Amino acid sequence: MSVLTDHVGLEVTAASQEAVDAFDCTLVAYLRFGNDIGDLLKATYSLDSEMLLANVLRGYFMQMMGVRALVPKAQQALEAAQGGTAIATPREQLHVKALEAWCNLDLFGASEAWEACIRDYPMDVLAVKMLHYSHFYVGDSINLRNSVGRVWHAWEGREDLETYGYMLSMRAFGLEETGDYAQAESLGRAANNLNESDAWAVHTVAHVCEMEDRQTDGIVWLNAKGGYRNWNNFRHHLAWHKGLMLFEVGRHDEVLALYDDGIFDPDSNEYLDLTNDISILARLDFEGIDVGDRWNVLGEKAKGRVDDKLLAFVDAHFALALGTIDNEAARNYVSSIDDYRDSKDDTYAHIAQVVGYDLCDALVAYRAKDFVGCVDALEPVRDHVELIGGSNAQRDLFAQILIDAAIRSEQWSLARSLLSERTALKPRNVRAWRQLSMTLKSMGDDAGYQLASIKADAAGRS
Ligand SMILES: [Fe+2]
Repeated sequence: MSVLTDHVGLEVTAASQEAVDAFDCTLVAYLRFGNDIGDLLKATYSLDSEMLLANVLRGYFMQMMGVRALVPKAQQALEAAQGGTAIATPREQLHVKALEAWCNLDLFGASEAWEACIRDYPMDVLAVKMLHYSHFYVGDSINLRNSVGRVWHAWEGREDLETYGYMLSMRAFGLEETGDYAQAESLGRAANNLNESDAWAVHTVAHVCEMEDRQTDGIVWLNAKGGYRNWNNFRHHLAWHKGLMLFEVGRHDEVLALYDDGIFDPDSNEYLDLTNDISILARLDFEGIDVGDRWNVLGEKAKGRVDDKLLAFVDAHFALALGTIDNEAARNYVSSIDDYRDSKDDTYAHIAQVVGYDLCDALVAYRAKDFVGCVDALEPVRDHVELIGGSNAQRDLFAQILIDAAIRSEQWSLARSLLSERTALKPRNVRAWRQLSMTLKSMGDDAGYQLASIKADAAGRS
C-alpha cells in the first residue's frame, strides 16, 4: 500500500495509481447517476481489493439503498475498511467513522464525521456528496445548501477539474431547496453546460420550474435534457418531475402514459422508484382519475418493505400505498412504527417521534376516508414534515393531502387558510386557485369565489 493522490490532489491509500484512478471514475459515475457505478466499483476492486475508500464507498452504497437487509453488508464493508485504518490518512479515518455511525443507523453522527472531513479537506467531493444525501434525508435544507458553500473557497475557479460541474449542480440544488430559484437555475444550467450527463443539474432546473409553477418551461427542459441514456434509475425520477408538471396543467392522460413508460419500472424495488410511483398515483387520485390496478402492484411491493424503517420519507409513501390496498396491513404498519420509535434510539426513531409516526397515521386515515382523522393527525405536525427528508417538491404531496382532507371533511375555514397560504406562496398554481375558489364558494363567499376564479384563469394563461 502507498499513499497516492486522486484527481483533486487528495491523499489516498491504495495499491496503485490505477486503483486510485478507477476509484475516481466510480465516484464520477456516482455523481452523474451513471448506470455503470457497479461495474466501475468492481473494476476498482480488481485493481486493489483492500483499498479503504473503495470499501467505504461500498458501505455507503449499501446504506443508501435504504434496505435493512443490506445493513449487514454495509457492516462487512465497514469491517474491511477498518482493517486498513492503521495506515490510513486522517481523511480516510473520518470516512470510516462516518460509515461506522451510519451502520449504527446514526445519520446525524455520520453527518458530523463528513462535516469534519470537509472542514479540513474541502476538495473531498465524496464527503460533500454524502452530506448532500444526509442533510437531504433529515430535512436540513439549510445545511444541504451551506455544506457546499463551506467548501466553495477551494472550488472557486477550478473549472479545470472534472468534478467541478458536479459540485456546481450540488450547490445549485441547495439553493433551490432554500428558495433562491434564480441563482439555482443559473448554476444548474451552467453545470449542465459543463456536463450534459450530470443528472443532478438537469434535475435542479426541473425543481426550479416545479417550484415556480413554470410547467411549460419545465416540460420543454426535460424533453430536451432528460433523455440521456446512460443514467441509472434516477432517470425515472426525472420522468416523475415531468409527470408532476403534466398533472399540474391537467394533462392526466399523458401522466398515465408517462407513468407506464418512463416513471414505473416493474423490475425495481428501489425506494426512489416506489416513492415516485406512489406520489404520482396519489396525485391522480385527487382528480378521480382511474388508475386501474396500478396501486395493487405498489401496495404489494410496499408490503415487502415494512421492516426497513430507515427513511421516514420512504415510509410515509409506503403507508399511503398500503392504506390504498389493505387498510389492516397499513394499520399494523403504523403500529409497528409506534413500537419502533419507543424502543429504538436511532435517527429513524428520532424522526418518527417528532413527525414520522403522525404523518403515517394521517395518511392511513386519509386512505380509509377518515378525513377528519387525517386532519387531526397531520395538521398539528405539518410544519415538521420537512424532517422526514426528501425535497420540497416531493413533500408537497403531503401538503396537498392535508388540503384535500380538509375539503373532503368540509372543514372550510381550514381549507381556506391552507389554500390562501398556498396561493400566496405559489401565485401561478392553477390548481390551488381553483381549489380556493371552490372552497370560497362553499363558504358562501361569492366575491371571493369570483376573484379566485379570475386568478385561476390568469395563472392558467401565464
Ligand atoms: Fe426531485
